[in-house]
Amino acid sequence: MEPLTLALPKGRLFDQVQEFFGLRGLKFGFNDRKLTALDESGLIKIILVKNSDLPTYVNHGIAGLGVCGDDVLYESGWEFTRLRSFDFGGTTLSLAAQVGYQPQANQGPMTIATKFTRFTRDFFHQQGIPVKIIKLDGSVELAPILGLAPYIVDLVETGSTLKANGLEVIDKLKPIQVQMIANPAYYKLHYNRIHDLIQLLEGVHQ
Ligand code: PRP
Repeated sequence: MEPLTLALPKGRLFDQVQEFFGLRGLKFGFNDRKLTALDESGLIKIILVKNSDLPTYVNHGIAGLGVCGDDVLYESGWEFTRLRSFDFGGTTLSLAAQVGYQPQANQGPMTIATKFTRFTRDFFHQQGIPVKIIKLDGSVELAPILGLAPYIVDLVETGSTLKANGLEVIDKLKPIQVQMIANPAYYKLHYNRIHDLIQLLEGVHQ
């Protein structure tokens, strides 16, 4: 039988996911810069992708399953079947600025640099607050320091990146969890096997 396909994100989440799966008997590794691997039992084929590309692979059914944060899911705009969330990798999407920053009166819309443009636009529009959004792909903390934008919306975990760059949280906007998702059609087609996989991940012996 064909293995189930699971997309995992490269980067710091990967090690935590690998450990979580490994402790439940699904062991896998990637050698020689390969981007696909089978777990030792042959149950799942893992595809290693860039975090922000993960919903694209699952939406197109290239991977039936995936693991990624609420932040990335929201930015994609697509609907997925949510299978479970994990205790690790939790962060908070937060509004931040330089320590002590005081906006001047009549300054116009808040200018915010962020990777999370969809979330930021929706969040502030829902509050009726006009914003100008500048899209960046990384190192967003530089924007207030270099004068690109006084505000950023970014993920904050320990807060050490903000602190190291003289920034502080102004408002916590949304808690972010890591989710296991499925392509809805794939979920229906492979319901029993996905259910068994979820049971295995819950630590329930079959
Ligand atoms: C995230 C986020 C911050 C940092 C926050 O970046 O964008 O830069 O982590 O973590 P902290 O509060 O524990 O310091 P990440 O390392 O995921 O990489 P990125 O550059 O792709 O955003």
